Amino acid sequence: MEERLQKVLAAAGVASRREAEKFITGGRVKVNGKLVTELGTKVTARDAITVDGKPIQREEKVYRLFYKPRGVVTTMKDPEGRTCIADFVQDLQARVYPVGRLDYNTEGLLLLTNDGALAQNLTHPSHEFTKTYQVTVLGLVPQEKLDQLRLGVMLEDGMTAPAVVTLQGYDNERGLTNFEITIHEGRNRQVRRMCDFLGFPVRKLMRTKMGPLNLQGMRRGDSRELDEFEVTTLLEAAGLSCDYTQDQPETKPADRSGRVSGKKPQAPAATFKKAGASHDDHRVRSSHRRTGGRR
Ligand code: URA
Repeated sequence: MEERLQKVLAAAGVASRREAEKFITGGRVKVNGKLVTELGTKVTARDAITVDGKPIQREEKVYRLFYKPRGVVTTMKDPEGRTCIADFVQDLQARVYPVGRLDYNTEGLLLLTNDGALAQNLTHPSHEFTKTYQVTVLGLVPQEKLDQLRLGVMLEDGMTAPAVVTLQGYDNERGLTNFEITIHEGRNRQVRRMCDFLGFPVRKLMRTKMGPLNLQGMRRGDSRELDEFEVTTLLEAAGLSCDYTQDQPETKPADRSGRVSGKKPQAPAATFKKAGASHDDHRVRSSHRRTGGRR
């Protein structure tokens, strides 16, 4: 997401927005090592920003795993007043948003973050980020139909990419089939549409995994922070590399006045670099906790 440079400087606590504009026009601000004096300049979370040569502290990065129950909309706010994600993560101060979406009636794993670069990469088809679903469909699905899912089926927006499908069993009494499917595309209602195409409507759908993340030990409505290992693995899966350091950075952050602050960071600092790209400064919350949301 692009934001105006002065807004980012103000959000980082360097100065008020008005003062930040003066910093920019006064030639004190660099973006990715280049002097910027234009007030209209826009930056993303990936850009490295310095004031008087000192890197600014951007917003702490938050990575929260959420087990969405059925009947919850995948938004942080619902104009119709339906239950949405925000109702379950009221303890979060940071402005997070979900990476991808689950239908109202789909339950399962959602990643919430304020890391725009990560969200962008995870949802970009080139990264082929895998998503695994537990599916129950109406009808007894023969092997050849499951093979069709594996090879790809023709939907109105084109052929689906090959999928990994594992039959888990038939419920002969109720006429249901249970299987697991792993896909790496993120088209709207993709799994439901794939099953509809075969003539077996979905009765129950649950996302159990996303790349290295899973819902182990969590109950519906739970959310928890990712641990450092999970964050590292996720960033790698998204083509972003990560260097952790528990130490204070060599260069101290600029404070509100643009001067260097001597304050120690409260959480371990994490500096991530996009492979082969310019410097990117993220900070990550590494605590592991469960939040009691509305259930
Ligand atoms: N596929 C669907 O059909 N629905 C979801 O919510 C997610 C994937």
